[in-house]
Amino acid sequence: MKKIKTAIFLSGEETNFKSIYDTCLEKNCPFEIEIVISDRRCKGYDLSKSLNKKTYIFENCEKITFEKKTNMVLKQNQIDLICLAGFMKILSEDFVKKWNKKILNIHPSILPLFPGLNTYKKVIQYGMKIHGSTVHIVNSKVDSGPIIAQSAITIDDLDNEISIEKKLKKSEHYLYPIAIKKYVIKTFFKNNKNSLKIEKNKYSNIIYSI
Ligand code: GAR
Repeated sequence: MKKIKTAIFLSGEETNFKSIYDTCLEKNCPFEIEIVISDRRCKGYDLSKSLNKKTYIFENCEKITFEKKTNMVLKQNQIDLICLAGFMKILSEDFVKKWNKKILNIHPSILPLFPGLNTYKKVIQYGMKIHGSTVHIVNSKVDSGPIIAQSAITIDDLDNEISIEKKLKKSEHYLYPIAIKKYVIKTFFKNNKNSLKIEKNKYSNIIYSI
């Protein structure tokens, strides 16, 4: 089976990248991480190097230069799909248009609630009792593209920003790989309905829709 060539974009830690990487080691995973692109020196960059992934860093440059360099390596490596994993640059409309429906993002809230930054702070401020993450297709507006999958966690009175982030990331590590798989199967392997069923049962503790 041809695997879908994926590029991971990251800017910070590496936990979602690592969960996607681990998923790719599964025998029937329909996608593989071909390259990793970072806009700064960060934990994710270091991890990618240590895993011997093709790793690129385009730091301290204007968005236009970053995207030009990025487009070049995406083309060179024949990339099919981009997954943003804690990538903190906002991509230009031109870039998003060029990669129409081929960029996925994970955002730490149940969109359309709390787009943008500081989600944990807002969650505490509003006294939310549940919170979650969203995997969506990137469009030209920040955090507002079509939703692929969502997960939910409960918030207790004793929770703070740190404990919420910890719980949320744990759920993201299931959510993001399964969402990518679902999207890849739906988009690139339209006739493979059986694998969708298996995944749904395996991850039934996650609330999601696709
Ligand atoms: C994740 O929680 C993800 O939802 C969030 O960044 C974190 C990255 O964690 N994404 C955004 O805030 C995008 N706007 P990681 O580096 O440990 O994978």
